[in-house]
Amino acid sequence: MKHFIDKLWREHTLTAEEYRALLTCRDADTWAYLQHRAQKVTRSRFGNDVFIRGLIEISNRCRNNCYYCGIRSSNRSVARYALTLETILKCCREGYAAGFRTFVMQGGEDPAQTDEWVEATVASIRREFPDCAITLSLGEKSRETYERFFRAGANRYLLRHETHNETHYRRLHPAGMSSTHRLQCLQWLKEIGYQTGTGIMVGSPGQTVAHLVEDLQFIERFRPEMIGIGPFIPHRDTPFAGEAAGSADMTLRLISLFRLMHPDALIPSTTALATLVPDGRERGILAGANVVMPNLSPREQREKYALYDNKAAFGAEAAEGLKKLEERLRAIGYSISKERGDYKRSD
Ligand code: 5AD
Repeated sequence: MKHFIDKLWREHTLTAEEYRALLTCRDADTWAYLQHRAQKVTRSRFGNDVFIRGLIEISNRCRNNCYYCGIRSSNRSVARYALTLETILKCCREGYAAGFRTFVMQGGEDPAQTDEWVEATVASIRREFPDCAITLSLGEKSRETYERFFRAGANRYLLRHETHNETHYRRLHPAGMSSTHRLQCLQWLKEIGYQTGTGIMVGSPGQTVAHLVEDLQFIERFRPEMIGIGPFIPHRDTPFAGEAAGSADMTLRLISLFRLMHPDALIPSTTALATLVPDGRERGILAGANVVMPNLSPREQREKYALYDNKAAFGAEAAEGLKKLEERLRAIGYSISKERGDYKRSD
């Protein structure tokens, strides 16, 4: 099995059969070797640096009703909120003072936040923080809308494809949403010039090894600048309340595989991983992740942005806990970089 790992490291591509063989392998030595290789690649490309992104959850209102998500439209138990421009700017100011040079505005697909409003918000952040990167994570929009946000000053966009397989996509999303449309949006984002992020939930209901192989092959072809991989975690008020959470180990293996596939990629050690296992944040970094996204949202709103149960949003997960995060990263031999951390191709 190790020769497949070496091949991925050297050539950045494997066949579907080779990916499948790796994913179904049960040999602990192979997994240790994969992690070792991925860690070395990350170290040689980024040194000890871990980039930080300040995550601002701007609205938990959403027109979609995804079966896995805690802020789905039919969940009546969530207190809905949306941040004002002034509050968002306040979050950015706090973040800037703490050393953040990337602000990620993430939210549900909130119909009340019009294109004009998002555009004006991006423009205001751009004006006040000319040296910072602005990342948007606001779901599916038209090509024209993505273009407007880009012209207003946004640099990056996160839109996980969740699963590449259409049948599996339909198992996770109600009628009206499709993998085809999600992939179309990703294509537009790339063409417009955004540094584009995509990714999946690991262990979502109905996910098979064949689906993961499809995801690996899609990400290989698409070459996203950012790759977000987190375990599925059930939320009590969703149709998937009784489903099992995804596996932390499988999440870590996928992070390592993506690191070998795309050595220059920005790969976060996700909040979902940190929520699932106590040392998830560190384990993600040791598996080849090089980004963390502490929460910069106003403290009083944080628990309302519950995509899954017990979502971590305080302590080392939070912007005000940056010291704690720094200590935890130092303990495993890494340190926080306060650079913008844009994607750079090394070849
Ligand atoms: N478990 C884990 N991740 C989730 N997300 C949404 N709901 C869940 C859940 N129950 C992830 C999706 C989405 C990102 C913002 O959060 O992958 O793209």
